[in-house]
Amino acid sequence: PRLDEMYNSFDFESVAKNVLPADAWAYYSSGSDDEITMRENHNAFHRIWLRPRVMVDVAKIDMSTHMLGTKVAIPLYITATALGKLGHPDGEKVLTRAAAKRNVIQMIPTLASCSFDEIVDTCADNQTQWLQLYVNSDRAVTKKFVEHAEKRGIKGLFITADAPQLGRREKDMRQKYSQDAPDEMDNETVQRDEGAARAISSFIDPSLNWKDVAWFKSITKMPIIIKGVQSAEDAVIAWKLGCAGVVLSNHGGRQLDFAPSAVEILPEVIDALKREGCDPKKDFDVYIDGGIRRGSDIFKAVALGAKGVGIGRPFLFAMSGYGDKGVERLIELYQNELEMCMRLMGAPTIADIKPEMVDIRNLKDH
Ligand code: FNR
Repeated sequence: PRLDEMYNSFDFESVAKNVLPADAWAYYSSGSDDEITMRENHNAFHRIWLRPRVMVDVAKIDMSTHMLGTKVAIPLYITATALGKLGHPDGEKVLTRAAAKRNVIQMIPTLASCSFDEIVDTCADNQTQWLQLYVNSDRAVTKKFVEHAEKRGIKGLFITADAPQLGRREKDMRQKYSQDAPDEMDNETVQRDEGAARAISSFIDPSLNWKDVAWFKSITKMPIIIKGVQSAEDAVIAWKLGCAGVVLSNHGGRQLDFAPSAVEILPEVIDALKREGCDPKKDFDVYIDGGIRRGSDIFKAVALGAKGVGIGRPFLFAMSGYGDKGVERLIELYQNELEMCMRLMGAPTIADIKPEMVDIRNLKDH
């Protein structure tokens, strides 16, 4: 189909399934084990209903907001997903260029197909990027990478905490991964017979723990955000240790199957933080990712206290089918959907989106 016939994020998924080689489709689309968490990530939004207000002046809608000090067009960012070249020859650079055009932030993955510098060099003037970090068992390697990222102007360090061991994504494992691993990877240690994910991830340090936060703070001035928090308890620890925020995430349902969806735990996380005297609107950023597919999903997340949302697979699918233009179009669709949702909800700005605008009575009812 032509790009102007793509009406929502699901359309891009259908196209990607048709155009991607089997190994790429398996790597991008898979979740772990029975994929219960992966499906639940989007389904959880179906249990949140809206409580619209009418007779509000909604002639102008402003959905811009700030994330870690950067003004963005819409409260979403392109989250880190490894191996961009499986979907497009330009890999992550496609996402970089589209993010610049539409004024959103891209989080660069440690396991990008393009080199880190190549991606940063693709930036437009004043474009903000974040870095997703997998911590290497050899901390000297990690230190060098973090210092380099800071020097190159990265504005947020997102340390992935939900992958001390890679989940078993069986669709992916059935494909014998043959592509070249990213440049920095040690070819001797990769396990090529177990799917793309396992082939590239053997260096990740399973001993990473809360004590390491102090070390990260000693080597960088970048704000530190823990990605992959899945409970109120851990969000509170991150806050107490001086992190700048957390991403509530279960890695797109690719790690622990039966982990809860981020949006389901968002209300209890916000409550727990407030009980500790933290103001999640000011002092500490709570992001969520996983299953965000509609503008109304973004609205619900913001209503429940998220600063913004990360979106993964839909951007990979848009990039795979249509390159730069596809990613730009998908951001535009999210903007159109969120704009309409805000207008029909009687919330002309992000600050007007309030918790009482969502009905979460059934959220826990699976
Ligand atoms: C991911 N994700 C991920 N996260 C991370 O911290 N480091 C990584 O290298 C990757 N790689 C990766 C590859 C692919 C193909 C996917 C789909 C996901 C997880 C990602 O950042 C995010 O948590 C989810 O993608 C969000 O869910 P949705 O939007 O894909 O449903």
